[in-house]
Amino acid sequence: MKNGVLHLVLDRVEEGIAVLVGEDGKTYDVPLASLPAGSREGSHVDASSEEDGKPLSFTLISGETGENKERLLRFFSKSEKSAKNKIEPKGSDKMKTKAVRLHSAMDLRLEEIELPEIRDDEILACVISDSICMSSHKAVKQGSAHKRVPDDVEENPVIIGHEFCGRIEKVGAKWADKFKAGDKFVIQPALNYKGSLAAPGYSYKYCGGASEYVIIPPEVMICDCLLPYDGDAFFYGSLAEPMSCIVGGFHANYHVKPGSYHHEMGIVKGGKAAILAGAGPMGLGAADYAVHCDRAPSLLIVTDIDDARLKRAAEIVTPEEAARHGVDLRFVNTASAEDPVAFLREMTGGEGFDDVFVYAPVKSVVETGDGILARDGCLNFFAGPTDPAFSALFNFYNVHYGSTHIVGTSGGNTDDMKESISMMEKGAINPAGMITHIGGLNAYADTVIDLPSIKGAKKLVYTHVTLPLTAIADFGAKAAELAGTPEGDLFADLDAICSAHGGLWCREAEERILRDTAINA
Ligand SMILES: NC(=O)c1ccc[n+]([C@@H]2O[C@H](COP(=O)([O-])OP(=O)(O)OC[C@H]3O[C@@H](n4cnc5c(N)ncnc54)[C@H](O)[C@@H]3O)[C@@H](O)[C@H]2O)c1
Repeated sequence: MKNGVLHLVLDRVEEGIAVLVGEDGKTYDVPLASLPAGSREGSHVDASSEEDGKPLSFTLISGETGENKERLLRFFSKSEKSAKNKIEPKGSDKMKTKAVRLHSAMDLRLEEIELPEIRDDEILACVISDSICMSSHKAVKQGSAHKRVPDDVEENPVIIGHEFCGRIEKVGAKWADKFKAGDKFVIQPALNYKGSLAAPGYSYKYCGGASEYVIIPPEVMICDCLLPYDGDAFFYGSLAEPMSCIVGGFHANYHVKPGSYHHEMGIVKGGKAAILAGAGPMGLGAADYAVHCDRAPSLLIVTDIDDARLKRAAEIVTPEEAARHGVDLRFVNTASAEDPVAFLREMTGGEGFDDVFVYAPVKSVVETGDGILARDGCLNFFAGPTDPAFSALFNFYNVHYGSTHIVGTSGGNTDDMKESISMMEKGAINPAGMITHIGGLNAYADTVIDLPSIKGAKKLVYTHVTLPLTAIADFGAKAAELAGTPEGDLFADLDAICSAHGGLWCREAEERILRDTAINA
């Protein structure tokens, strides 16, 4: 190695692993994904090792192939040929990854950590995208007091982030007949393994979305929660997780025919539904699903107290599109309503709502939800409170005489995720509207900590990218600010692409952001 730089040629690729031959005559196995985009057999690659022994970073020198490759290989092979490298590139026994880990309440750190070699019942995977959930903020705020965060998190920090999508790198022998390197995947994090609340993104040392690489533990596969993903963009795979929670909530509601004890699952088809505090990203996804699912209501009211959010929501899930599906969709601001219960009930002709979803852990919102229930009305408390003593009044006269009832859901199940993926693939729902900000792994920790005060909706992170968290609406301004730099070019391209897609994040934008990384979309 001269001046800390080693010249290599890419000899071949086997199941996602690139075999490189170095000028030192040694071979180096590294995940193909860790090489620059465009690397192929015969490519010349320079590898440098940071002084403190951090993993190699690669630069593509040329993509030549053919004779030149043979000549270089012969030249490189002249010196002594050892079995494997000693400088620990990715893919070796000592795999390193950057990850954002929770150490204790509000203590979130971007670190480089070492992943152990996988066991026969584990899978090594490359995470590409991870969208950020308000529930992660709540987990960070609570630390070990959170139900899913281990008590010993201070000694064994966990990788956060549970809305992730990526590619499998290496499969332990036990799962070799089911998965293979190169497969794209998503994870359903609500494993419910043996009744435990442990979930990727909350509870595991080596498995969470805020990481370049992860080790997927056996219980994920045992619970059938590692799902193959064939969608054409990684970010849709990330959004399959929050969508699955929404879908789960809709399936968990139930109704009972008078005189029977049979719970009919799901919302009332053609009924009256309300999503309270529903102009956040999750409420937006819920409105999209309600309009396009097979049990669409005839009336859907979405309330909030944030005008800007309500306006954007109505531009994304439009009342016109809802009308085409037989749904009377209205977005209303309840902030100035003197009596929100009377105001909302009136919209149903006084009858009340069959299905009410509460999307903020706010006492008054829960109580409004209770007040607007119809006979046999079901209130779904979807929001996740941070206060373990969170309580609200519920009218038990109506429970007794009006059969009103309440359910609560946290997460979805594997079927909910499959349903979300299938609806996205068919174009029946487009959760891209949930995303308003894009960033790199460097922006992850601050974003999670500041999440409640950052305007807009969902924040999407590409874990192999370094980029400040930036609103899609600000791409143009960022491009002007950084004009003449590679980042400026990136923002200019992203601005043009997203503008051509109605201001929404899309597959083309994802391909552009991944173009300069080792990850090919
Ligand atoms: N059950 C699950 O599986 C699951 C999964 C993911 C997220 N969640 C929870 O769902 C909730 C919604 O997620 P989000 O990301 O959209 O959150 P968010 O905080 O971005 O959105 C909540 C919305 O509630 C509105 N709001 C606040 N107080 C209100 C009031 N008094 N009246 C009317 N509107 C009010 C806010 O303006 C905001 O638009 C969160 O509590 C989150 O933790 C649950």
